[in-house]
Amino acid sequence: MRVLTGITPSGTLHIGNYFGAMRPAIELQAGGDAFYFIADYHSMTVITDAAERRAYSRGIALDWLACGLDPAKAVFWRQSDVPEVCELMWLLGSLTPMGLLERAHSYKDKTAKGISPNFGLFAYPVLMAADILLYDTNVVPVGKDQKQHLEMTRDIAIKFNQTYGDTFVVPEEQIREDVAVVPGLDGQKMSKSYGNTVEIFGDEKALRKKIMGIVMDSRTPAEPKPDADRNLAVQLLRLVASRAVADDFENRLRAGGLGYGDLKKALFEHYWNYFAPYRAKRAELAAHPDHVERVLRDGAERARAVAGKVMDRARQACGLR
Ligand code: ADP
Ligand code: TRP
Repeated sequence: MRVLTGITPSGTLHIGNYFGAMRPAIELQAGGDAFYFIADYHSMTVITDAAERRAYSRGIALDWLACGLDPAKAVFWRQSDVPEVCELMWLLGSLTPMGLLERAHSYKDKTAKGISPNFGLFAYPVLMAADILLYDTNVVPVGKDQKQHLEMTRDIAIKFNQTYGDTFVVPEEQIREDVAVVPGLDGQKMSKSYGNTVEIFGDEKALRKKIMGIVMDSRTPAEPKPDADRNLAVQLLRLVASRAVADDFENRLRAGGLGYGDLKKALFEHYWNYFAPYRAKRAELAAHPDHVERVLRDGAERARAVAGKVMDRARQACGLR
């Protein structure tokens, strides 16, 4: 069973990315057939600064390796090191109905926000389908927001298979319901585009300030809070503390007597400790950029060996060979 996922280097990773995408992916690498990549082609639709793209790509490589991605278990590479994916995008795009792309939430959301649409933004789901189909992927672990893209990938794979004969594996998404949407500091979905993130790695003082700045209601500490389970700090604490600790804080908040300041302080401490070992690992990796580059190049070679075979099959099927 091949597992594959990608992450776009278009910003600094936050704990929504970690719990929604990275941790489930890292747990799955034990299965022995995991393919994880840095989706730098995808970043082209959102970033137009070369130095920035390079920095985010390197940063994300460090983040994944620091958080436990093991290149001995998983194939880890930079998307653009396997350019066959662009060729496959054309084969798939030529079979993708306009209507399917016009219905994409991500495209509609972005244009509704006033981002001027370009071809890349519109074609994004086709490139994502190519990412997945190029590696005979069975399972794609993603957050809820990517569900539609997986449905589109399946539609495109089925259309190709019906048109040219059985060529691609039809993949399934894997959405972890318990961490499906990590809320941001304002209660909306945590997302770098909403400026409501808690970074996985960042400056201690700045992050403490962010967490202590979570806005709560004006009820006094003594007041019982029957809605304690819906408190944002409690929800975030559940991610970084043990169940017993999170239950204890929730119960104390419900009963009355726990102040929001103390709750937020506990949230910060648990968050900071949760990522402490990864922080140390990341610093060590950052001191050895050649090693990281070697890991990515080796991964690209392994990915390309698979991609080459699937591309041959696809070219044969549609008569390019
Ligand atoms: P952002 O919304 O910050 O731009 P991305 O779209 O780059 O994040 O998401 C990268 C991965 O992280 C995807 O698999 C996505 O589903 C997951 N993800 C992002 N934000 C969250 C969140 N708040 N909760 C759960 N998963 C998330
Ligand atoms: N679109 C995904 C995101 O924004 C990233 C991504 C690109 C991806 N290609 C992929 C995820 C293929 C899974 C499989 O989060």
